[in-house]
Amino acid sequence: MKVLFVTSELAPWVKTGGLGDVSSALPVALRGLGLDVRVLIPAYPGILKNFPDAAEVARPHWLGGALPTASLKEVSTADGINLLLLDYPPYYDRPGSPYLDPDGNDWPDNHLRFGLLSRVAAWLGSDASTMDWKPEIIHCNDWQSGLAAAYLHYLPGGKAKSLFTLHNLAYQGVFGYETLFELGLPQEAWRFDGIEYHGKLSFLKAGLQHSTAISTVSPNYAHEIQTDDLGMGMADLLRYRSEHLSGILNGIDTRIWDPESDHYLQQHYSARNPNAKAANKAALQLQLGLAPRKDIPLLAVISRLAEQKGLDLLLSLGAKIMNLPAQLVVLGSGNVELEQGFLALARQFPDLCSVSIGFDEALAHRIDAGADIFVMPSRFEPCGLNQLYSMRYGTIPVVRGTGGLADTVIDAADEKNGNGFVFGPASSEALLEALQRATTAWSDPTLWRRLQKHGMARDSSWDKAARQYAELYQKL
Ligand code: ADP
Ligand code: GLC
Repeated sequence: MKVLFVTSELAPWVKTGGLGDVSSALPVALRGLGLDVRVLIPAYPGILKNFPDAAEVARPHWLGGALPTASLKEVSTADGINLLLLDYPPYYDRPGSPYLDPDGNDWPDNHLRFGLLSRVAAWLGSDASTMDWKPEIIHCNDWQSGLAAAYLHYLPGGKAKSLFTLHNLAYQGVFGYETLFELGLPQEAWRFDGIEYHGKLSFLKAGLQHSTAISTVSPNYAHEIQTDDLGMGMADLLRYRSEHLSGILNGIDTRIWDPESDHYLQQHYSARNPNAKAANKAALQLQLGLAPRKDIPLLAVISRLAEQKGLDLLLSLGAKIMNLPAQLVVLGSGNVELEQGFLALARQFPDLCSVSIGFDEALAHRIDAGADIFVMPSRFEPCGLNQLYSMRYGTIPVVRGTGGLADTVIDAADEKNGNGFVFGPASSEALLEALQRATTAWSDPTLWRRLQKHGMARDSSWDKAARQYAELYQKL
């Protein structure tokens, strides 16, 4: 089975969140099952500089509208995955985030940048392709490649089937009507049961409407997005397509996220011997300039600071967090008010609270290892990877019971299986109550060890998900 996996992020080279992690790990797991998976991604400078010998294998052309002729370069990663790098320097040779300019605004030509990615994916899956390698499945991820399904729909001749995976329904790729022509789409595509969305063009809707099948990254989120509450304006369409919609729970790359071998850590440890975790806590406190307290738990947040993540609920607790009592470490960036708010809290409690604004892979690993409790009060969460990383590192998650968090974290009330703390309402009171339960439990070593044991024993590898994707491809 030949599969083209289309993505706008790929860890470790280009990553703003979980999509980057999934895109680097899932293709490897699929390859392990014998599938021939290649990954199509824009040739951002962060990737190209690691593959200076990338050689051109095709020049997709006559793509329609204002879309340029681009160059496809192929390279092989250390994991044995073939990357197809879509090179068109005027679009992709830009520094920093794949989506934002240095001021934090969307690049004004994002419709063309990701329109070209989608169009080239469709080209590869159609008779027009000049490549010998012909994918049978085009696996699109999020809005950036959603338009591929629409292009495939309107292309003549034999073509691949498509799977559209939703990692986040909140980002919908919405642009003005005039972009229809720039993107080389036919006028007939402008329909309410096509790519038109409230008088605009939506890449996400195009993917939902025209893909052969849709999946999302947890069974619970697959259910939730069909409700008006969490459907973000797409619930009707998702209900309409429910027969072709499924949820496959993400895994994690257990080679990279492993406390027994993680090269970022001060000291390695395992489920059998979690005691060395304490050395990582001490090292983290030292690195961040916190008081070396062993007598109170260390809470942690590693996150995009976006509305989705519910961190305003945590921030509004202010001094109550320190009075639990506890220390708090925050690593993240995004919303300026949240950044400022957390920084002010750190200034108020320099011994107890440390806030790092930015993206720092090494620090993220050290926090997962050094913290006692990981906090994720998300308003919605398609899957969430960080609760899985934390559990593997013996750090107990406190989460809101939504999306994939509800599918992966089992409340401590369940003595046999509990691996964390789950709360319901999206309110700071409910969060505080859950944090109180967690910090009280921390003082009971027997109970805490049990929660750690359950979390660390959880099989979060990609094996199961990869088998489910393979079955889904087969069905298509
Ligand atoms: P989302 O994709 O919604 O951001 P996930 O939990 O699925 O949420 O994945 C987030 C990923 O991004 C994790 O690998 C997490 O460690 C990482 N991450 C988020 N913010 C930062 C940051 N500031 N520094 C380092 N890693 C981060
Ligand atoms: C998204 C979601 C997150 C998920 C990740 C990878 O960014 O917000 O919940 O884990 O994609 O699928």
